Amino acid sequence: MTKWQALKDHHQGVTGRSILSLFETEGRAQAFSVGADDLVLDYSKTNIDAASKAMLLDLAKVSGVAEKRAAMFGGAKINDTEGRAVLHTALRAGPEAVITVDGTDVMPEVRATLARMAEFALALRAGRITGQGGAITDVINIGIGGSDLGPVMATLALAPYHDGPRVHYVSNVDGAHIADVLKGLNPETTLVIVASKTFTTIETMTNAETARAWMAETVRDTGAQFAAVSTAAEKTAAFGIDPSRVFGFEDWVGGRYSVWGPIGLAVMIAVGPERFEAFLAGGRAMDDHFQSADFAQNMPVMLALVGIWHNQICGYTTRAVLPYEQRLSRLPAYLQQLEMESNGKSVAMDGSALPVDSGPVVWGEPGTNGQHAFYQLIHQGTRVVPCEFMVGKAGHEPELAPMHLLLVSNCLAQSEALMRGRSLAEATAIMAKKGLTGAELERQARHRVFPGNRPSTTLVYPQLTPFVLGQIVALYEHRVFVEGVILGLNSYDQWGVELGKELALALQPILEGRESVAGKDGSTQMLVGLLKV
Ligand code: F6P
Repeated sequence: MTKWQALKDHHQGVTGRSILSLFETEGRAQAFSVGADDLVLDYSKTNIDAASKAMLLDLAKVSGVAEKRAAMFGGAKINDTEGRAVLHTALRAGPEAVITVDGTDVMPEVRATLARMAEFALALRAGRITGQGGAITDVINIGIGGSDLGPVMATLALAPYHDGPRVHYVSNVDGAHIADVLKGLNPETTLVIVASKTFTTIETMTNAETARAWMAETVRDTGAQFAAVSTAAEKTAAFGIDPSRVFGFEDWVGGRYSVWGPIGLAVMIAVGPERFEAFLAGGRAMDDHFQSADFAQNMPVMLALVGIWHNQICGYTTRAVLPYEQRLSRLPAYLQQLEMESNGKSVAMDGSALPVDSGPVVWGEPGTNGQHAFYQLIHQGTRVVPCEFMVGKAGHEPELAPMHLLLVSNCLAQSEALMRGRSLAEATAIMAKKGLTGAELERQARHRVFPGNRPSTTLVYPQLTPFVLGQIVALYEHRVFVEGVILGLNSYDQWGVELGKELALALQPILEGRESVAGKDGSTQMLVGLLKV
């Protein structure tokens, strides 16, 4: 019997058991939670018991998580469908770190680029780098996917620390996006960062051209108000961006893992290099924890095992990320790319079909807003949605502390309600107090039953500082890594996005009327007919 099957069998045996009953064992909350520095992950409100925990830990062990972890941190080419190392951790490694790829220490270059970024950001923030109209007031980061979601998420998350120029993001090739951002900006005091690892992504390059044309209407030397972040130095030069304004990184940083380096330039400009360094330090602290803690006390490992339990073992196909922190409003979108682009695959490393389901659908919204929208389904729908709550002990608005308490109480209430539910007897008692009787009492009571026994985890942090944000992002990166290793897939390529890109390119001349639509399927032919200009 495989370890997967053994876990599934174990699950079958405990499906009817209430999670609440597990708390009859003293110390359940402490035994089924894990700390990393000042973060605590509570996974006690899941149906994982001592036996399944041991089986999951064994699965991690035999899947080679420790060996792969050493290989990743050591610069081995674990992204073997692209022949690349996976070293986003190098971008946040400490001053003493030596990390070699193909026999060369990559750290001097990483540090030199970080220092150049800091110099650039400081000069911009101090008004030493100016536009035609004086000090730069606005920065636009043009990028998409990993060249957008991370910096957007981090900029919003760190709003209380934002004391640099205003930062805007443009990603969509829908002209509405850039049009709305440019509206109201002064081209003479705006700096554009073109952020693209490959510098070929059509959305980004199209938006970059649009921004340059907008700027060129009044600015004589547009090049002086452009910068680039890319691995493709020749392409940035061909676009006309001065090499002194280009911040490079290597192909061993995946797009969705790139916020720690030059792709985070806009964040650094917004909050300053010191706070950006604190963000890196948070990621580094999680790296240290991930590399040193025993699996049972290892937060990324345990978060991954909870994920595997819910998705591959219990068969819950989605996972909701629910930060009780308005400033983490883009974290679910960020994690969507991180998790779904990394582990949304059906082929194992060796080319065979995955023997189990790939990673889950990840989605979410900040609480409490989600409570007034989709929590209805989470509580009473027929499908179980494991929820990942996160909440800080303190906000950044001490004068609004009572509001923060309300936020926290809502967060805790949701996980409690999901687990506890409300029985028919309880619902009946409530409705009887309202004077209902007989069949109508029973009918009304049934609508008010909460099945309960719905699993959730809660991540608690002291306050959403740059350091804590770094810890959280690195936690999820390593969670994805561990899940990917256990599933036996390559978390670091993304071939699944290619076909759509190719077909979009082929459709362009058809939509322009330069090529015939014949050969396309009937639906596409009809849609082309409707949309052709
Ligand atoms: O299309 C997917 C993708 O390749 C992502 O992996 C990446 O983050 C995004 O596009 C943007 O790519 P680039 O930074 O090269 O423009």
